[in-house]
Amino acid sequence: MDDQTLDSDALRYDGVQSSLPKERGMPPAIDTPVIDIRDLTKTYASGFQALKGVDLQIRRGEIFALLGPNGAGKTTLISIVCGIVNASSGSVQADGHDIVSEFRAARSKIGLVPQELSTDAFETVWATVKFSRGLFGKSPDPAHLERVLRDLSLWDKKDSKIMTLSGGMKRRVLIAKALAHEPQILFLDEPTAGVDVELRHDMWQMVRRLRANGTTIILTTHYIEEAEEMADRIGVINKGELVLVEDKATLMRKLGKKQLTLHLQTPLDRIPEALASYPLELTEDGQALVYTFDVQAQETGIAALLRRLHEHGIDFKDLHSTESSLEEIFVNLVRHGREARA
Ligand SMILES: Nc1ncnc2c1ncn2[C@@H]1O[C@H](COP(=O)(O)OP(=O)(O)OP(=O)(O)O)[C@@H](O)[C@H]1O
Ligand SMILES: [Mg+2]
Repeated sequence: MDDQTLDSDALRYDGVQSSLPKERGMPPAIDTPVIDIRDLTKTYASGFQALKGVDLQIRRGEIFALLGPNGAGKTTLISIVCGIVNASSGSVQADGHDIVSEFRAARSKIGLVPQELSTDAFETVWATVKFSRGLFGKSPDPAHLERVLRDLSLWDKKDSKIMTLSGGMKRRVLIAKALAHEPQILFLDEPTAGVDVELRHDMWQMVRRLRANGTTIILTTHYIEEAEEMADRIGVINKGELVLVEDKATLMRKLGKKQLTLHLQTPLDRIPEALASYPLELTEDGQALVYTFDVQAQETGIAALLRRLHEHGIDFKDLHSTESSLEEIFVNLVRHGREARA
């Protein structure tokens, strides 16, 4: 399915209009974005432009999935919000705090699970999460740290040196560190890369639990099924540009296509003239007709098509329908996003 065009301007600014400039000194209202990214650009010292004017507003309490191919700029974007990389221009507010002029206040709201595994190999699990909490000036709270470690099935490893843990366990330690200071906003950069199926499902559960407790979650992933499963909204970034931000359900409805396949009683060698006006394709073996229709269309046209087939004596023995997945939508966007925007 590559015939769909994208009204990307309409999509791109969906939901942005509500975030009017805030008045100085006012506490953030409930519907102001918890992360407000404006016209953010990044050119690395090498001269490479990794971000080209990104605008993105994250809603309080949502799970936002950022999708994009390797090198699209996902980690760069997250690193800027978390103060690890400096932006070249533009601004970011985290829960109302500017990430540059109010760095400490902004950063204390945020937990980051980085993409790269880099931990203090010689420390114990307990020492490292305790230290992470202390970094943010939070008073010690062993009960909270115990809860976090238990949630991540790390409690029995609390006295182990990190170097003795498996890769999946190290990843869990990174999550525990990010949660140690009770952040309201959690960034997960490829949280389930190289993680087994069971741990992936555990993580999804944990993310849902955090959301249920009011944490806002932004995750990047290459696993489309992960975004399909978890996200409330989806952003697609490609070559440093945000090509789309949309509610997941709306996205799947807007860009999703359905196909109805009719398995014929008697094979055809071509589509009859009388059906030429229908978006029909005949399979190569002539055994089935495939009808493509828009999920969002008012009338699918199926009833009329079936009447037509009957009138022309074309009988079918079976039928089934399929829906395009987020994966197809994503591949299409990355491949055709630029042309569609142009
Ligand atoms: N320190 C750096 N100096 C120069 N270029 C960099 C630097 N860090 C990243 N880049 C480049 O910026 C682009 C975006 O990188 P980034 O890590 O943000 O991508 P990503 O979307 O996270 O990719 P992946 O899915 O592989 O993690 C890439 O082309 C990368 O090579
Ligand atoms: Mg990355």
